Amino acid sequence: MMARVPLIAGNWKMNKTVGEALRLVDEMLPGLQAVQGVEKLLCPPAIAIMPVAAMLEGKGIGLGAQNLHWEKDGAYTGELSTAMVAEFCQYVIVGHSERRALFGDSDLNVHRKVTAALAAGLKPVLCIGETLEQNEAGRAAEVLSAQLRAALEGVQINSAEALVVAYEPVWAIGTGKAASPEPINTLLRNVVRPTLAGLLGQELAEGVRVLYGGSVNAANAGEYFAQPEVDGALVGGASLKAADFLAITQAAA
Ligand code: 13P
Repeated sequence: MMARVPLIAGNWKMNKTVGEALRLVDEMLPGLQAVQGVEKLLCPPAIAIMPVAAMLEGKGIGLGAQNLHWEKDGAYTGELSTAMVAEFCQYVIVGHSERRALFGDSDLNVHRKVTAALAAGLKPVLCIGETLEQNEAGRAAEVLSAQLRAALEGVQINSAEALVVAYEPVWAIGTGKAASPEPINTLLRNVVRPTLAGLLGQELAEGVRVLYGGSVNAANAGEYFAQPEVDGALVGGASLKAADFLAITQAAA
């Protein structure tokens, strides 16, 4: 079995002006570059993608968008096409729970976005996760596998690196209530990876990185990365502070 290279991704959400974004990148860049054996990814707000791309050029740090539209071009006010994103980014976050809850990212639209991203050579970071209510009703496994099937049914990938899955329990996002590492590992091993195997085939599924996200910080990151099924993290709040994001990245090395 091929070892999966850990991936640490910072989802800045709607934080940082361009000026602030450039200062943050400047602050974290030398430290991030020094960490070996870990893939690093920054996902700033769309308006900062272009200037951040210029700063990251040749630095070995990936860039991702937080969303895209599946149509090639046209009258879609406020949206970014895959070609626009692919000019600067290698990755794109798709199906984040905030977009599902607040901006109409239905399972169907998530599927369209994953398909469009892959067709443009972008690597989707496909977010899945159950709400608190679903979790308390014991429905986490069912929700995760349904979200994976809806997003990936009929989708072809050429290599395991072309797709990343991020398990972000909605109740753990921005709440400080990080999920316990062992149950996460069990859910990934028993539900997420077997569902991926059913959709993509065993071999590709074994190579797809599966990240954990939800209140990951410098203090708890190591406990997640110690779990064999957790291949890195999708970090929100703690990715906005250079020292914290760097410490999380170092914990994955
Ligand atoms: P927090 O790390 O702020 O909980 O956010 C997680 C997240 O939603 C990353 O996409």
